[in-house]
Amino acid sequence: MKKTLFTAALIIGAVFCVSGKKLQPIGKLIDDRLERSIKQYEGMAVSLIDQPNKLPRTIDADGKLLTTSSGGWVSGFVPGTLWYLYQYSQNPQLLDYTKKYTARIENEKNNKGTHDLGFMLYCSFGNGLRITGDSDYQNTLLTGAESLISRYNPKVGCIKSWNSNEKWQFPVIVDNMMNLEFLFWASKASGNPKYRDICLSHAEKTIQNHYRPDYSSYHVVSYDTITGLVEKKNTAQGYADESAWARGQAWGLYGFVVMYRETKDKKYLEQAQHIASFILNHPNLPADKIPYWDFNAPDIPNAKRDASAGAIIASALIELSQYADKASKKKYLNVAETQIRTLSSPEYFAEPGTNGHFLLKHSVGSLPGKSEVDVPLTYADYYYIEALLRYKYLKYNK
Ligand code: GLY
Repeated sequence: MKKTLFTAALIIGAVFCVSGKKLQPIGKLIDDRLERSIKQYEGMAVSLIDQPNKLPRTIDADGKLLTTSSGGWVSGFVPGTLWYLYQYSQNPQLLDYTKKYTARIENEKNNKGTHDLGFMLYCSFGNGLRITGDSDYQNTLLTGAESLISRYNPKVGCIKSWNSNEKWQFPVIVDNMMNLEFLFWASKASGNPKYRDICLSHAEKTIQNHYRPDYSSYHVVSYDTITGLVEKKNTAQGYADESAWARGQAWGLYGFVVMYRETKDKKYLEQAQHIASFILNHPNLPADKIPYWDFNAPDIPNAKRDASAGAIIASALIELSQYADKASKKKYLNVAETQIRTLSSPEYFAEPGTNGHFLLKHSVGSLPGKSEVDVPLTYADYYYIEALLRYKYLKYNK
């Protein structure tokens, strides 16, 4: 009897938040937000359907939709989000839009001028291939993987991020860890280990040179192309060279979770768990678990939040929870659930028909660059929907 009462108290406790308000069951909340997201993204798809060279990017100060060409680094996220929403809904109209938006970026498979092909092609064509098995999608991806590895320099042991400029000979940004998932796929699909070998080298160098003793990361590490040694450690989008730019921490966490998934090498699991500890134990991580745009932003607690970092971390933690021991699993899932609840609240989740049809408000692209500050961003939506689906399939086995 005592045990039953205790269990009942626990359940009641779990559905009430600290403020005493009753929380919607997380499964219901996720289904509701997925349904609302489908409507919002149908509206977005319709809004550019007659402009085949454009994909959504963000909104301006008046709420007007701003677009990117297929060559922009964010071009693959809206097609990718559409794929996830189609996977959930099986809605044929949505599939039609999804295929059209995916096709808009096919030419980028030949683009050797960017390291972002993982984002651009794997979020779009990669999800398309996973869901439909279309062999044309596979061919596009294999061509794209070849383009991406053209940026690998064996002396440095990394894929070059941005093309050289006056400041950096061979800049590698921590974000580049996100392109490795695409290359692991390419090795499996082609049977050629060269893509995977590049991933291992790139990840090794990233651990050595991007990470500080506290497991926060530098944003940009530039290498000397003659010696292969580190030339500079800087930031581009963070507050300072020595600060912890929130999205960079999120990209690194996600990247090393993928490294462990693909290799089962414990050192990557340890790396991911150390990064998670840095983020989750940071005194500047707010109680609602959506980071400020930089963990060291000087105006905390008034600094802007970055919903995109929150969404990426949530998605990564849900996967990481699957590889962790019982206590860590619980901790990761609790944080991810809090992030999902926060991002699904009216503070972040936009009203239907507003926000340029994007789902989430309040992301930061580049604060030092005064670009895309406190706006909706495609990748915030993509990783938010990915987190909702990961949580749903994990918890409800659907
Ligand atoms: N990869 C660029 C960014 O995260 O803003």
